[in-house]
This record gives sequence, structure tokens and C-alpha cells, in this order.
Amino acid sequence: MSRSAHPAGPRHADVLPEGHYLAPPADLNALDAKVWAQTVTRDESGVLTVGGIDVKRLAEEFGTPAYILDETDFRARARAWRTAFGSDADVFYAGKAFLSRAVVRWLNEEGLNLDVCSGGELTTALSAGMPAERIAFHGNNKSAEEIERAVRAGVGRIVLDSFLEIVRVAHIAQSLGKRQRVQIRVTVGVEAHTHEFIATAHEDQKFGIPLADGQAAEAVRRALQLDGLELTGIHSHIGSQIFDMSGFEVAAHRVVGLLKDIRDEHGVELPEIDLGGGLGIAYTSDDDPREPHEIAKALSEIVTRECEAAKLRTPRISVEPGRAVVGPTAFTLYEVGTVKPLDGLRTYVSVDGGMSDNIRTALYDAEYSVVLASRTSDAGPMLSRVVGKHCESGDIVVRDAFLPADLAPGDLIAVPATGAYCRSMASNYNHVLRPPVVAVKDGEARVIVRRETEEDLLRLDVG
Ligand code: LLP
Repeated sequence: MSRSAHPAGPRHADVLPEGHYLAPPADLNALDAKVWAQTVTRDESGVLTVGGIDVKRLAEEFGTPAYILDETDFRARARAWRTAFGSDADVFYAGKAFLSRAVVRWLNEEGLNLDVCSGGELTTALSAGMPAERIAFHGNNKSAEEIERAVRAGVGRIVLDSFLEIVRVAHIAQSLGKRQRVQIRVTVGVEAHTHEFIATAHEDQKFGIPLADGQAAEAVRRALQLDGLELTGIHSHIGSQIFDMSGFEVAAHRVVGLLKDIRDEHGVELPEIDLGGGLGIAYTSDDDPREPHEIAKALSEIVTRECEAAKLRTPRISVEPGRAVVGPTAFTLYEVGTVKPLDGLRTYVSVDGGMSDNIRTALYDAEYSVVLASRTSDAGPMLSRVVGKHCESGDIVVRDAFLPADLAPGDLIAVPATGAYCRSMASNYNHVLRPPVVAVKDGEARVIVRRETEEDLLRLDVG
């Protein structure tokens, strides 16, 4: 995933950038299991189905655009993470990827904990019955009100992000007569994205307290002195959509180094280490993510080895996958509205949503795949760009894709791997209504987040 934003809108001349991975697939109707939720397939008439329900029926019943979430797949992925890390480690699902009350209940039932990063996420989690002690509260600027709410609720962990926050949380906890369990988030000087990581200069960012110049050690010193806090561990999060484990290796090495310094200075061995989230998923056939059990094995080996070398007891590990749990479980179902061939360039396929339901393409140059979903086709490949209905030329859902040349208005197309950071980052740009999230399981479909209505828009607009 490229990170170079393109604020001026779409690129023009590059029909397909040189060396681009995309070539017309051998079979335009094929579904690459890597990018689709577990129960997605085509029925005998060629219509895409999920959980045993075909997308034509889903479109008829729930309208388009819609995020269609495969509950069986979500539960299977959550369980795979839980099982992979076993009883010696904790998995905190990162709610920022996508949070709803149904999702909270599934997580609860599958034995995952939850990372929230705002009062809104905390409310959603508590209102759906997630036990407070299984919630971790994150954020670089939690308000005093949010902190108080979290401490009163009894959240299991608050992740402290600055020197100011150390004092703020201690003060609030103490005034409530409580001792709050906390971790300190450190920046280890590693930033990882996709297939590479960079091990310099990434302390220049808003999150965490740098390990450099003894700053994190000073934060630990202060936290250990305050009665309102029980410091249980160190937290590190190095980036997003990561495939290469070497960034985690460097991060673990540096965090364990801090744990050793803490032991040497204070005679305390902190019992927890959190390595954050950021594990990558397949958006296109080009991506090769690792399985949770491989990641769990790699992380636990890294931490154990580092701790043995430092003669420390191995702390309890936790991780915070968001995208890797929910990302692959959903696809966005759109109806094609217009098909506009531009000679010698490509065909622009306009759908009934766009950057309001998936900002990731415009914001991060993210790549997605797409298929014709309401039927199969024998037509040849047509180089396409799937665009939305917004008044902005950068309103692109899938920058480069091959769709069948007989694509027509009224066809349904599906964009896979939109479970993470699509609904949660959706907007009302142009007063376009945010799509529903429809959960499908064993032949049944139900709305878990309803479609926004024009009444919703007018309710906020007080006139
Ligand atoms: N833990 C912490 C402290 C985080 O900051 C994040 C993500 C996660 C866990 C979960 O990361 P994941 O496993 O989902 O990659 N909007 C961007 C991603 C922003 C991620 C922010 N923090 C995107 O659409 O790619």
C-alpha cells in the first residue's frame, strides 16, 4: 500500500503505471480466496453468494451500496487469533477498524478483549456487554471526562501516551479512590508499513513517549511513584498493513531493553508487553499475509529470546489486531450507474457510493480488487477505474481493475476486503448517506448498522 497521498486528484496519463502488478486475469469471474471472506462463492447461476445468500437478494432487501459482512468468517478469524496466542497472551481487537454492538458481542463470545480509543468506542463496548476489565483505553488526547468514565467503569488498562497524561490519569484515579492499571506507550524508533520498515527518525510523531534520551525511562520513574497508578507494562505500536516481522523484532528488542533497565533501576519486572496491531491483509492477489498462528509463534519467539538474553521473566504478551480480524470479512456491494469509456485510456465505472464509504483509496492510494457480482460474463477484460458519485475527481474506489467489457448499468459489483477502516472512516460528504452493515450467517442476513437516512441528516442540522 503506497502512502503517497495525491491531494490534487487522480493521476492522468498513467494508464497503468509501468511495472504495475495488474494484468488481465485468466478468468475474470474467478474469486481469489485470499481477498474474499470465507463463505463467499458463486452459485450455479454465477451470482456471488455469501453465507448462502446471493447478492441480488441482498441488494433487493437492503439496497446498495452496502457493506456485507460474513459473520462466520469474522468469528473464525477472531477465534484463530485467540487460539494462536493461547492462554499465555491476550488479543485485543482494535475497535477503530470497525466497531458495532454486534461485533462487541461476537468478540466477547470468542474470548477476545477490546482496544478502544475514544469515549464513543468505550460507550459502544460497554453498552454491548464487554466486561470493562477486558477493555484497553488508548489515545493521545483522552479528555478528563473520558478518563474519568474509563476509570469509573473499571477498564482493565489505560495506555498512557504522554507525561501530562501520566499525571492526569493518576490524579483522576486517586480522586476516585482507585488505582488504575496502566501501560506506557513508547515509540521505539521503528516505523513499519507493508513490506518494509524504517528504523530511524520515526519518533517525530504524536503518539507515545520516545525511548530515546531516557524519556521513556523517566516516564516509568514518574508512573511508579504515583499512588493512583499500577504500571503493568510497556506498549509499542509500529504501523499498519505490515507483512515483514523484522519491525516487530526491533521493537521487541528495544522494549525488552527498557524492561531490563526498569528491573535494574527499580528492582521491578513489569509483567506485560503489548506489541500493538498493524498486521497486514490481502487487498489484491499481490498481497501475501501471514496466518495468526505464524504471527503468534514469531512474536512469542522474539520476546522469549530477547527476555532470555536479558535474564528477564518473559512477560505476558498482548497484541491489537484490527484490520487482520475484520478487514477480509466484508465486501462492499455497489450498483453500477454509468459506464464511460475514454478511448485509449480506460473505462470509468461509476457506482452509487464512493469516497464517503471508502476513503482509503483517496487518502492512502490504497489498492483494492473488484468483481462483477450479479452474474458471470464471457466478455473480454476492460481496463477500468471504479469511481463514486461525489463531486470530486479524486473520488476513486478502485484505481485499476479489469472488469468484463459487457459491464452495464444495473450490474452489481463487489469490492472485497472493506471490513476495516471503511465504515469506521465513512463520511457524509455531499450529504451522501452512509451505507448499512449487513451481517450474513448460515442463510440469514440482518442489519447490524442501519443505513443512514435523510432524516438523520436533518436531525443533526438544527436549522
Ligand atoms: N493498536 C494501536 C495502538 C493502533 O494505533 C492501531 C491502529 C491498532 C492497534 C490497529 O491496527 P491494525 O491492526 O488495524 O492495522 N486508517 C488507517 C489505519 C490507521 C491505524 C491506526 N492505528 C487505514 O485505513 O489503513
